[in-house]
Amino acid sequence: MIPFNVPPCVGTELQYIKEAIESHKICGDGVFTKKCNAWLEERFHAQKVLLTTSGTTALDMAALLCELQEGDEVILPSYTFSSTATSAVLGGAKLVFVDIRPDTMNIDETKIEEAITERTKVLIVMHYAGVACNMDAVMEIAQRHKLVVIEDAAQGVMSTYKGRALGTIGDFGCYSFHETKNYSMGEGGALVINNPKYNERAEILREKGTNRSKFFRGQVDKYTWVDFGDSYLPSELNAAYLWAQLCAADEINDNRMASWNHYYRELKELEDEGKIELPVIPNGCVHNAHMFYMKCKDLEERTALISYLKNNDILAVFHYIPLHSAPAGLKYGRFVGEDIYTTIESERLVRLPLYYGLESEQVDFVCEKIKNFYE
Ligand SMILES: Cc1ncc(COP(=O)(O)O)c(C=O)c1O
Repeated sequence: MIPFNVPPCVGTELQYIKEAIESHKICGDGVFTKKCNAWLEERFHAQKVLLTTSGTTALDMAALLCELQEGDEVILPSYTFSSTATSAVLGGAKLVFVDIRPDTMNIDETKIEEAITERTKVLIVMHYAGVACNMDAVMEIAQRHKLVVIEDAAQGVMSTYKGRALGTIGDFGCYSFHETKNYSMGEGGALVINNPKYNERAEILREKGTNRSKFFRGQVDKYTWVDFGDSYLPSELNAAYLWAQLCAADEINDNRMASWNHYYRELKELEDEGKIELPVIPNGCVHNAHMFYMKCKDLEERTALISYLKNNDILAVFHYIPLHSAPAGLKYGRFVGEDIYTTIESERLVRLPLYYGLESEQVDFVCEKIKNFYE
């Protein structure tokens, strides 16, 4: 069976986890967490990065830092993972869903403006498959309407837009290091803070409402409860696992990219024959090979293809049920404008196996079976 995903493991994880155990420091914000934060800050030229317990809690932190109030509105795409939306709901905001572009499956930047009202406070964009949204347009609209921009870059670690790392362009960026992501710590994530005005509040929020981070830096002589907070620190054991991955970040990226390019080359003829569609990478975007997807003609063909591949020991999957038609989406949000692409495109998309260490012969095998299916 060719699995859909295998969590990345480069071989040095155990050594670092052992070091964490032997240092007798396995709670949060120890050596490995600090190394990971610093690596992400340096590599991506980010003002401040804080590891979190998940991509979801990084999004929660961003939403809480925006101080959303009951009745505020948050604009986001409907074609995304539930976490993009749950963070906004946490603050009592209303969700306003906007259609996607069919080429990248990202929010359609030309539809954002018609969704803005005097209650709109935040704009959340999600970089699907690690391919950037049109951030020039997004930032221009946000600045004109004084909106805070949160980049859900859960899938976009190591991707860039016009040379800038995804997650570092809006006010906040949120990464995921879940086991299905390019770089992993089992469960985990990071909040990228691009506007320093949020730094202090973010540290307090992450540290159970205390000013403990200031205390550790010697900026106050005792630490105390100062504000609303929660606990978003991952364990050092998880951070040690991630550290191993970050040390091998380029190797992981190259390995995934080789598989992605291999799929693309092999399947191009089916696209040229008009049978399928392949991902589009717009100019100015460098992606991270997070995902290889293709689009079938329609839902029926996709169901048949997934089942054909399964019968040939290949696990291919689809996602997402558009949020605006999900039970919680109906409860918390509304779709503005026409759903031209969100539902139809989501029904055609299928994701092929892609993970660090996927063999070239396995990619050949998957492509051969897809070609057989279309014969
Ligand atoms: C677009 C998107 N946002 C948010 C998340 C949530 O990340 P996590 O699973 O680390 O909480 C994920 C991944 O699972 C995701 O793909």
